[in-house]
Amino acid sequence: MKPLRIGMYGGGTVGGGVYELIMKNKASNIVISKICVRDLNKPRTFQIDESVTTLTADAEEMMKSDDIDCVVEVMGGTGLAKKVVESALKQGKPVVTANKTLLAEHWGELQDIIKNNQTASLHWEAAVCGGIPIIQTLQSCYTGDEISSIAGICNGTTNYMLTKMSTGAADYDDVLKEAQELGYAEADPTADVEGHDVRAKIALLAGVAFGVPVPPVDKIPCVGISKITSADFGYASQMNSTIKLLGTAKKTAENKLAVYVSPAMVSMQVHSVAHCSGVGNVVSVTSSNLGTCSYSGPGAGRYPTANSIVADIYRVASGASSNAVGTSDAKELELDCNYVAKF
Ligand code: NAP
Ligand code: HSE
Repeated sequence: MKPLRIGMYGGGTVGGGVYELIMKNKASNIVISKICVRDLNKPRTFQIDESVTTLTADAEEMMKSDDIDCVVEVMGGTGLAKKVVESALKQGKPVVTANKTLLAEHWGELQDIIKNNQTASLHWEAAVCGGIPIIQTLQSCYTGDEISSIAGICNGTTNYMLTKMSTGAADYDDVLKEAQELGYAEADPTADVEGHDVRAKIALLAGVAFGVPVPPVDKIPCVGISKITSADFGYASQMNSTIKLLGTAKKTAENKLAVYVSPAMVSMQVHSVAHCSGVGNVVSVTSSNLGTCSYSGPGAGRYPTANSIVADIYRVASGASSNAVGTSDAKELELDCNYVAKF
């Protein structure tokens, strides 16, 4: 059987992990034929097998290549990454991506391309909560159920920072630098600390959980952690609580959809959230049949994220169709953009 030939854009934290995991499984019948990076001279943290893989900095040329069956986009951003993803989908190829910003900001355009290209598909487990298989879980385990709320910690960088800051031992700038060095933060960490990364993720989660089009990110109220100080942790501790950055999407009493991102005081008794530490993420889903279930695990980092990408690549190899937002009758849910302001 012919191998599935991957063209991967990006060979950094996530891309390096994907390469290592794919190369480790010799029996997989999947090859990474080409990797596109920005700087060919940059030392790589993974060993490239030149007998199977070509490293290039020519994205335009790679986009035209007819010996790639599936595109993996792990370069980030919404410039070249958008071009690469759109080009692959227009050629009818499956695309696997970890790029929540691109997906959340351009969801409708990407879906339109897929509608017009029958063999194209889009897979993005890695884009939300790193290693936690939350997208597959929502899509496969809640089919006959009705979700009323989905909320949690969806950013590893800020949870790492808040965890360290809560002990009083770490300064904001130092701990952000640590998170960057560990490969958790976005290229521009403003997206992490100002909550924009969570905003993109909660928009995507809302789309899947409620079967609605992904809500426009610029309509989602969003506050990050850049103004949190050690004094805030002092007040929280007096109330037997801690501070976490939460993304929330829920149905309101008026049957609208409220989506927002905000730091919140969380009682230490709410174990799954308050004790979710370091790079951990947790997503709590409340539904008619299950009550509240919480899904937790590593929310960022090389191998957890690469694992989600590799799982999607295997799904592509087995002919799976796109991760979709649902198609239920909940489509009529109207976005309540002022929900936070009301309480
Ligand atoms: P990264 O370490 O900065 O790697 C980015 C890679 O893309 C680098 O290899 C870089 O090339 C390449 N690249 C960037 N711009 C390029 C351009 N214009 N032309 C060609 N190559 C270009 O980033 P990352 O942490 O792996 O993240 C990648 C994506 O995964 C982002 O969308 C991010 O949001 C998402 N993600 C990351 C994590 C995580 O824990 N890091 C988790 C979930 C999702 P050079 O190496 O030559 O600079
Ligand atoms: N910067 C993101 C985070 C990467 O820290 O959660 C994972 O999406």
